[in-house]
Amino acid sequence: MAGLIPRQFIDDLLARTNIVDVINGRVPLKKAGKNYQACCPFHTEKSPSFSVSPDKQFYHCFGCGEHGNAISFMMEFDRLDFVDAIEELASMQGMDVPKEENKQTPAQQKQYVQAQQQKQDDYKIMEQIAQFFQQQLKVADDKQTAIDYLKGRGLTGEIAKRFGMGYISDSWDGMMNTFAKNQMLSKQLVDLGMAIEGDKGRPYDRFRGRIMFPIRDKRGHVIGFGGRVLEDGTPKYLNSPETRIYHKGQELYGLYEAKQANKNLKRIVVVEGYMDVVALAQHGVDYAVASLGTSTTTEQIQTLFRTVNEVICCYDGDRAGREAAWRAMDNALPLMRDGISLKFVFVPDGEDPDSLIRQKGQAAFEQILDRAQPLSKFLFEQLMSQTDMNSLEGRAGLVDSFQPYINKLPDSILKDSIINELANNFGTGGEQLATKLARNINASTTSIQKNKTNKITPARLAIALLLSDPNLANSLSDINALSHVDLPGVSLLNNLLQLCKQNHNMNSAQLLEYYRDTEQGKQLAKILCWQHHVEPENAEDVFLDSIEKLFNTFVEQRTELLLQKARSGQMSAQEKHELQTLLNA
Ligand code: UTP
Ligand code: MN
Repeated sequence: MAGLIPRQFIDDLLARTNIVDVINGRVPLKKAGKNYQACCPFHTEKSPSFSVSPDKQFYHCFGCGEHGNAISFMMEFDRLDFVDAIEELASMQGMDVPKEENKQTPAQQKQYVQAQQQKQDDYKIMEQIAQFFQQQLKVADDKQTAIDYLKGRGLTGEIAKRFGMGYISDSWDGMMNTFAKNQMLSKQLVDLGMAIEGDKGRPYDRFRGRIMFPIRDKRGHVIGFGGRVLEDGTPKYLNSPETRIYHKGQELYGLYEAKQANKNLKRIVVVEGYMDVVALAQHGVDYAVASLGTSTTTEQIQTLFRTVNEVICCYDGDRAGREAAWRAMDNALPLMRDGISLKFVFVPDGEDPDSLIRQKGQAAFEQILDRAQPLSKFLFEQLMSQTDMNSLEGRAGLVDSFQPYINKLPDSILKDSIINELANNFGTGGEQLATKLARNINASTTSIQKNKTNKITPARLAIALLLSDPNLANSLSDINALSHVDLPGVSLLNNLLQLCKQNHNMNSAQLLEYYRDTEQGKQLAKILCWQHHVEPENAEDVFLDSIEKLFNTFVEQRTELLLQKARSGQMSAQEKHELQTLLNA
């Protein structure tokens, strides 16, 4: 996504934006020394551990570990995606976001424009097909069968319309006849998964004799379809395959419709089927979505938590439903910051949300949702059901079985409370257990302590100094001095050096932006959160000293290695030459 907005624009935007103003407009800040502080907006706390640095243009919470630049703040606080966060910040500065990448080569630019054009074409034809399917409910010869089916499932025309539901009769070319007017269109329809290329090369309709559910992305574009047979045929549901516009692990059926129906969504229910979503809406629960595969992915959960604070997974009570819930929980663990909640409800065996709400109605169904099991309860219940709670070994094993899940959780109230509950209820079984829990609890205490234990290596120190003052890169006589040095942290340092050399006077927030969503970005943010305590007037000396240390360590290690090779007589001519140079240096 980042590629769509020119890098130069993002740099300029971050240079003009003052993160203190951006945050202060949303969370009142108090001056504290050089920085500003407040109670953290991302977790519940009584004393302020959220700090904003005007120098670094960076925020960091010592309690929950949230951190980032102005763009990150907008994404987290206003729940925007990257592009929308940029739009919002740009509008505060009265800047227009350029729509096209102008730093690309002409060939790249052409490719980009073509891909954009293609996408628009794809959306357009998919929308037309959705309308065609809808139209078929009015004009198809066998429309009455389809209408009767929908009525039989308790749906009104109004709800069918809200979800854009349609129908296609059972024939090989009902859709293709109308849309595949030439070779190019025919190919496009195959690419979009709407038609299947037969042996004889004449593509035919994928969906035949089915009730059609259009799948929309968050902006409302039709990107795929699900189709249900009217009778008992198989497969019961047929779905669009993955295409250039449809990636099922990223989309949620019904999310667009739920947002349209509720300007202020508070919670979202995740169910298993298309029909569940539509039936719930029919009965007033117009905030349900379905994940479009077997399990709910991390990306889908992230999308949901960008929209609401409360997500309730409502699955079948059978084994498959519980397994689906477990996978969803496992995928959600890394996202569970304070202030959001994930809950679970299981419908009785043989029922699903559709049948349940039809029997019991909205109020009773919502009561069930209100009593949903919180994540921690679900976790305990599942892990305990797999443990022999009567034996000491079993109980000790329970603590072990929690470990992988606890490890995935970020520092949070949830994590602490799970550890506390384990300690209080299962931590009485002997010395070993108590030590183990103590270790867990230590591991989970706030990131302040973690940062303190971060070892100060020369590479880390050099990076920290460069982040505070990118111009330090100019104090190096040779920017490539460390280019062959193979030590931890040095490849990142080299990368950063090049970046600083090319772009003078950048602040930390701008530098960090180059690494958004990368492993390196995570390391850099960690280093930026850490206080190096080097006074500005000493920065250059300390920086050059760190670089020299790295270089010397490398020379020593390399020399040692080559000497060993020399002793064992396995040295190439090239290596001999290298050793000579090293020894002379
Ligand atoms: P279910 O089998 O639980 O069906 O599939 P359902 O949602 O209750 O549907 P109705 O009430 O019989 O109409 C749940 C979901 O699993 C996927 C679909 O997304 C469906 O909504 N599924 C199911 C398929 O993709 N293919 C199938 O053959 C069956
Ligand atoms: Mn069903």
